[in-house]
Amino acid sequence: MTLPFDALETWAAEVLTAAGASERGAALTAQACVRANRMGLDSHGVVYLETYVRRLRSGVVDGRGEPEVVEALPTLALIDGHFALGAQVGTFAMEWCCEHAEANGIAAAVTKDSSHFGAASFYSERAARRGCIGMVFSNADPGLAPEGALSAVLGTNPIAVAAPPVDGVLPSLDMAASVVAQGRVTLAAKRGEAIPPDWALGRDGRPTTDPVEALGNTMLPAAGYKGFGLAFVIDVLTGCFGGGLVSPELVEERGAAQLFIALKVGAVSNQRSYERRLRELVAAVHDAPRAEWAPPFLVPGEREARTAYDRGPAMDLDEATLTLLRAIGEECGVPFPVSAAG
Ligand SMILES: NC(=O)c1ccc[n+]([C@@H]2O[C@H](COP(=O)([O-])OP(=O)(O)OC[C@H]3O[C@@H](n4cnc5c(N)ncnc54)[C@H](O)[C@@H]3O)[C@@H](O)[C@H]2O)c1
Repeated sequence: MTLPFDALETWAAEVLTAAGASERGAALTAQACVRANRMGLDSHGVVYLETYVRRLRSGVVDGRGEPEVVEALPTLALIDGHFALGAQVGTFAMEWCCEHAEANGIAAAVTKDSSHFGAASFYSERAARRGCIGMVFSNADPGLAPEGALSAVLGTNPIAVAAPPVDGVLPSLDMAASVVAQGRVTLAAKRGEAIPPDWALGRDGRPTTDPVEALGNTMLPAAGYKGFGLAFVIDVLTGCFGGGLVSPELVEERGAAQLFIALKVGAVSNQRSYERRLRELVAAVHDAPRAEWAPPFLVPGEREARTAYDRGPAMDLDEATLTLLRAIGEECGVPFPVSAAG
């Protein structure tokens, strides 16, 4: 069963509004979720509506909250998210950065009292389309620990870096500090699928392929202690730097902290040199010698761009997702579009 992404986004915004979100918060959150689906980041797609609706209804997220600049230097802002939807806070913060980077070459904004903002590249790519290199860091609920752990310690804290495109390639690294995003384990649990043994630990601190066991304990860091170190410094850059919460304190991402940075391309050196160097860099990756059996080498973000191309204008909905979305629609009084029900 398929549904056009545009129809999915309209429905998602209506659901969020019915659950108490402001028009802008609902529109940006729906856009962030559906964009994730378009690009194959399904763990952060419309399945997250369940979480957002629950948090809006319980007051963990303030649907009427409005992000506010509470301290500003010429190129650095502290933004109070007032517990608004993370997509609204993140968009506000990255827009502030881009505007100030236009004049100053660089700008950064750190948020406190924000909330879960979905896929980090929603914000870094927004900057890239405005001619800036965008960088994004966020903390998240505890979900990550080293081997042998009996509970999660730090968040799966994502990092994203995106750069203005050249020849249609928009470099965009977007990754959790864990082997993969925890949302992929949640998705596997919903679908009744096993997970690879190197993703997570069960309650006994040993590797598990059971997503439910994994959700009861912790994800493993990407590349061992390097991913753990990355998660740690992301907490330093976000919660510590901005005076917000750090990941071990977070529950339901209420009060999550984020850092956004925009670097204006061409502010030093020049735009043409940037484009030439990036073109050469991309070619070095694409043209690198590889074994016959090796798949083509990609730059970060290309996999998602290809998925978006392959998926086209409509989303295939599996039975588990469809059941979930119908239930959310029923709960919020916004029936899921009939055309998808076949
Ligand atoms: N908001 C939060 O609290 C939170 C927490 C964790 C993760 N997330 C989000 O979860 C999403 C998924 O994260 P993930 O770590 O599972 O991502 P992933 O492991 O699927 O991909 C990570 C990066 O690797 C690149 N990549 C993948 N295959 C490649 C290949 N063959 N060659 C070259 N590059 C390749 C991708 O383009 C991407 O930039 C991200 O959008 C992230 O922001 C959000």
